[in-house]
Amino acid sequence: MLAFIWAEDSNHGIGYQGQLPWHMPADMKFFKDTTTGNTIVAGRKTFESFKRPLHNRKNIVLTSRDEKDFPEGVVVYHSVKEVLEYYTRQPSQKMFIIGGVRLFEEFLPYATDLYRTTIDHEFAVDTYMPEIDYNHFMLSDFVEGKVDEKNKYPHHFEHFMRVEPENE
Ligand SMILES: NC(=O)c1ccc[n+]([C@@H]2O[C@H](COP(=O)([O-])OP(=O)(O)OC[C@H]3O[C@@H](n4cnc5c(N)ncnc54)[C@H](OP(=O)(O)O)[C@@H]3O)[C@@H](O)[C@H]2O)c1
Repeated sequence: MLAFIWAEDSNHGIGYQGQLPWHMPADMKFFKDTTTGNTIVAGRKTFESFKRPLHNRKNIVLTSRDEKDFPEGVVVYHSVKEVLEYYTRQPSQKMFIIGGVRLFEEFLPYATDLYRTTIDHEFAVDTYMPEIDYNHFMLSDFVEGKVDEKNKYPHHFEHFMRVEPENE
């Protein structure tokens, strides 16, 4: 499985000033539960937004920078091709593309699954999710999130599975 996982607001916004535009612990928990034990692939800016590698996951970063600029244990790749070759070598693994924009654009043809959290609110954002043709995917799971003191905005979690190749 080569999956995308992300959260977007009502306008497909995903980022603001290098960070998430919102504080939604329920989505962070969903992200952690879904990706733990698996491989995550981040663009350099998304990786920097975490400050350190995420625990109990293989951390791959895409960058033009040198490997020595990253903490020990992080796997540094310089092209989409290298990531796909790694994925092909370990077909049983679950690999999650976790953003940002260029990764979502470049890996879209290869994505088998999409894990999308939608937060029904308009935030101040400066980074948007690229367009996805959902006709190529089938909704396989929908869970309404619980609004509470810590998660103030209505939100839901969806899992889509690919049914058609990207070029059809
Ligand atoms: N809501 C969400 O689910 C979500 C998910 C992810 C990110 N975000 C947000 O989005 C923002 C960051 O995303 P972003 O799109 O601005 O940046 P990004 O994709 O995280 O990082 C961009 C960098 O990744 C590297 N890169 C990307 N594609 C590459 C390729 N094919 N080959 C080599 N290097 C490649 C380059 O690094 P170098 O410059 O080092 O060469 C590029 O400058 C933040 O605000 C973050 O919080 C939100």
